[in-house]
Amino acid sequence: MNLVLFGPPGSGKGTQAERLRNQWKLRHISTGDLLREAVAAKSDLGQRVESVLASGQLVSDDIILGLMRDAILAVKKDASLAGWLLDGFPRTVGQAEGLDALLAETGTRVDAIIVLDATRDAVIDRLSGRRTCTQCKTVYHVKFNPTRVDGVCDKCGGKVVQREDDRPETIAKRLDVYEEQTRPILTHYEGRVAMHVIDGDLPVDQVTTEIERIVGRAAA
Ligand code: AP5
Repeated sequence: MNLVLFGPPGSGKGTQAERLRNQWKLRHISTGDLLREAVAAKSDLGQRVESVLASGQLVSDDIILGLMRDAILAVKKDASLAGWLLDGFPRTVGQAEGLDALLAETGTRVDAIIVLDATRDAVIDRLSGRRTCTQCKTVYHVKFNPTRVDGVCDKCGGKVVQREDDRPETIAKRLDVYEEQTRPILTHYEGRVAMHVIDGDLPVDQVTTEIERIVGRAAA
């Protein structure tokens, strides 16, 4: 079972992926998480991409395709997994074409694309209130899903902070980049891959119920 979670920044891709991955034995592959881990580790890759992330622009396709190649091949070798759940990839036509080539090479396919269609006002509200645990990466929201103790992760006790790119001017940039470079790739998949559009403005639990219905049907 190989799924793509698609939608603008803040539409809930990461939140939903965390809920789905255990139930369906899927590896959650988030390009954003992979890049932020590289930045935190101060690796060569991290130093090359740090300013790009902070600006809200996209990292180059060749870097992203290299990361995804490794991640997808690792899932294929892991017998305990039923597949992958992509979050934040593909994001450009070049990445979608690169994914096609990789899937052809490995004899794999995308089973469904789940589009979380959230409005600009909703995602601005969410991103400006989002907080993330620096240790276990659990995502919170100051209004919709707050920590019990301010700034402390409920799960691991780690420090909970605001993401560098969740400042108002960078949020606006990321949303513009999504409209210009990412939303158009849905055309690339039209008629080739099953596509399911969900109202991403709905409460978290309702979105999960909708996705589970879709995944359940795809798995049957
Ligand atoms: P990335 O990490 O992929 O960020 P994004 O796509 O901007 O998505 P977000 O993580 O911001 O949002 P989300 O949809 O996961 O929402 P979440 O569940 O957290 O990318 C970051 C950067 O990395 C990019 O800008 C780029 O520079 C680079 N990059 C990454 N991938 C790349 C690629 N393929 N190519 C090139 N560059 C790449 O939810 C948000 C908040 O809302 C949370 O607080 C949550 O609690 C709350 N929430 C979620 N759902 C709901 C709901 N239904 N109702 C109320 N609140 C909700």
